Amino acid sequence: MNIKKKIYMAGVGGMLGEAFYKQFLGEYELRCTDIDLNEDWLEYLDFRNYEKYLADVKEFNPDFLFHIGAHTSLEYCEINENDAYNTNTLAVENAVYIANSLNIPLLYISTAGIFDGTKDIYDDWDTPNPLGHYARSKYAGELFVTQNCQRFLVCRAGWMMGGGPKKDKKFVQKIIAQIKEGKKELYVVDDKLGTPTYTHDFAKNVKLLIEKEYWGLYNMVCSGITGRFEVAEELINILGLKNVIKLIPVTSDYFKEAYFANRPPSERLIDKKLDLRKINIMRDWKICLKEYIHDYYKEYL
Ligand SMILES: NC(=O)c1ccc[n+]([C@@H]2O[C@H](COP(=O)([O-])OP(=O)(O)OC[C@H]3O[C@@H](n4cnc5c(N)ncnc54)[C@H](OP(=O)(O)O)[C@@H]3O)[C@@H](O)[C@H]2O)c1
Repeated sequence: MNIKKKIYMAGVGGMLGEAFYKQFLGEYELRCTDIDLNEDWLEYLDFRNYEKYLADVKEFNPDFLFHIGAHTSLEYCEINENDAYNTNTLAVENAVYIANSLNIPLLYISTAGIFDGTKDIYDDWDTPNPLGHYARSKYAGELFVTQNCQRFLVCRAGWMMGGGPKKDKKFVQKIIAQIKEGKKELYVVDDKLGTPTYTHDFAKNVKLLIEKEYWGLYNMVCSGITGRFEVAEELINILGLKNVIKLIPVTSDYFKEAYFANRPPSERLIDKKLDLRKINIMRDWKICLKEYIHDYYKEYL
């Protein structure tokens, strides 16, 4: 009989977590925890609490620890600096101690936002220079994992797309919410460059790395370089609203009150290490965006 390997997934109730749950369910035995119990497959665990985190993981005795959750609002992290570092850095240190003490590999999700945008495109070996507390807290987590964890995967995501109306807290959902409100003119920044990352492609590529045991740090974003304005244009096209919605390009200054946290002008990544290892299954962002809208926002098509 084939005994399933076990994965403990912490902070897995969000937009990326949904894809991880779907990707690994079936082949693996899962224990999924979060502080936001928005699914019946989630149990409560606040990973800032080291003793409880350790006890819960130990009790499950997994083969892998996936530390997925974080505070992902840049503005929240600027205002709540201590919680940002408690959640995004110290909790990751907790995860490293736990993984090392159980002698199991740890997965940590980092972000393209750790770069300062002085370059146009960043590969896996470029040197980060985080601009705000979100990015700094995530980079501190990344450094702690890479310097202290015995076996790890650190995978850097870009602009996340996934989760649909229920879970998506980011750009695609924000544009769709405005359309739903009946807006016919949308203001979109044209001075922010990045790489969208479809949650399902990301989870699938992580699974491949786990299976191959290719540990280490990887950029993991969709292919195709782009920016916020082009993503909005493509989204409007997919929704068939090209002649209905007018996109008005603005600079980031236009949103400086709502989005006051410092963001790099470019956080574009390329998956150089995945390419060199010939294990890059991240698809083009336009293909992924189309699939995302078709699978999660059918009622808008
Ligand atoms: N979203 C992006 O564009 C993006 C880009 C690059 C990297 N990432 C990284 O990808 C990972 C997943 O992000 P996501 O976009 O899926 O975020 P998300 O949708 O906000 O999900 C994160 C989950 O973690 C939970 N959480 C927060 N604090 C926790 C704690 N102390 N203990 C347990 N769970 C906790 C959150 O609960 P609450 O909702 O109650 O806080 C939420 O359910 C994060 O590490 C993030 O930094 C995200």
